[in-house]
Amino acid sequence: MTDLAGKRIVVGVCGGIAAYKAVEVCRRLVDAGAHVVPVMTKGAEHFIGRTTLSALCSEPVQMSLWDEESPIPHTKLGQGADLVLVAPATARLLGAYANGLSTDLLTNVLIATRAPVVVCPAMHTEMWEHPAVQHNISTLRSRGVHIVDPEDGRLAGGDSGKGRLASPEAIVAAVRAELGPKDLAGTHVVVTAGGTREPIDAVRVIANRSSGKQGYAVAAEAARRGACVTLVSTVDLPAPHGARVVAVETAAQMQDALERLWDSTDVLVMAAAVADFRPVACADGKIKKDGGVPNVVLEPTPDILCALGAKKRPGQTVVGFAAETSDLVANAQSKLARKNLDMIVANDVSQPGVGFQHDTNAVTFLRPGQALESVALTDKRAIARELIDRVVSARS
Ligand code: C5P
Repeated sequence: MTDLAGKRIVVGVCGGIAAYKAVEVCRRLVDAGAHVVPVMTKGAEHFIGRTTLSALCSEPVQMSLWDEESPIPHTKLGQGADLVLVAPATARLLGAYANGLSTDLLTNVLIATRAPVVVCPAMHTEMWEHPAVQHNISTLRSRGVHIVDPEDGRLAGGDSGKGRLASPEAIVAAVRAELGPKDLAGTHVVVTAGGTREPIDAVRVIANRSSGKQGYAVAAEAARRGACVTLVSTVDLPAPHGARVVAVETAAQMQDALERLWDSTDVLVMAAAVADFRPVACADGKIKKDGGVPNVVLEPTPDILCALGAKKRPGQTVVGFAAETSDLVANAQSKLARKNLDMIVANDVSQPGVGFQHDTNAVTFLRPGQALESVALTDKRAIARELIDRVVSARS
């Protein structure tokens, strides 16, 4: 496959034991037709030789701001790139990049480029889990940097845990995804995320365990693929790059926000866990416990998705979620029909690692008149890609 032909990719290699895997990544990118420009940090030279990368990439390795006659190679490299990839990225690199510090050629390139950036961290588990590193990761993510999370596995020095560089396949797939089609350009995608909170009194709410992570991943993926994205959210996570967030708390507020957006909505992905019941009335102030156990009377909330599905226009695509603990397919099938949906994403939240609060999910996609398609337990971002692929194919 030479699908990356004509793409100029700057590959930054930092000083970590995983630097040897960058060699394989560069080889695969060259094989796919890309013009690969290697940049090494000083630390990387402790792990691999310049000659190795120079020999298999499209140009000799560059390491310094001061090697050339022209004193500005970083702007040339950054401006000319279709994509900048860093594999492996060390904690130092993440910290410098997140804070805008240009301490060497690679950080200069990263700060000077407007091209998409894919960063693949690799380090010991203790370093990866350090709050400073995690803070830098979420800063970079919120700026639209594509982070390819490290995997669990063997690390240098006989240790084992999370921090091992992602596989060359996963890294090249992330590059392909970034350079892939903007197949939602010109489309307004509205995504809901999180669980609604329905007030009982001034301090108490009826809530659920939804973290909003799946909805945020869908919003980020839609934005990456060129959509104009509005995220109607009940949770306070960093906004995905390119998405506008409308903060809501209750089912009624979510419904109100979606009704306002409806005329301009091309795709609705209803990932939120909307409460099915709410207190009929919210008590003024805090209900005092010395008054005895209160009698909280509940009423059903409006089914937002059902109401919007019923008035769907041609050209609008509506996707729902079905979080189930039994009869997954039968329940999802009936919701698909009843709510007039183009797709429902069913997950069995009783399974380990699936659904609420996890970073992972396992789902079955159901579409009218089509065979079921299941995706085994994987990262919520991978589920988001699968979901958006199907939305695009349903609209074409
Ligand atoms: O019927 P059930 O609640 O299982 O359907 C789940 C789907 O319906 C989800 O996409 C959820 O966001 C949506 N929903 C809704 N309004 C409700 C309850 C659920 O839009 N009151």
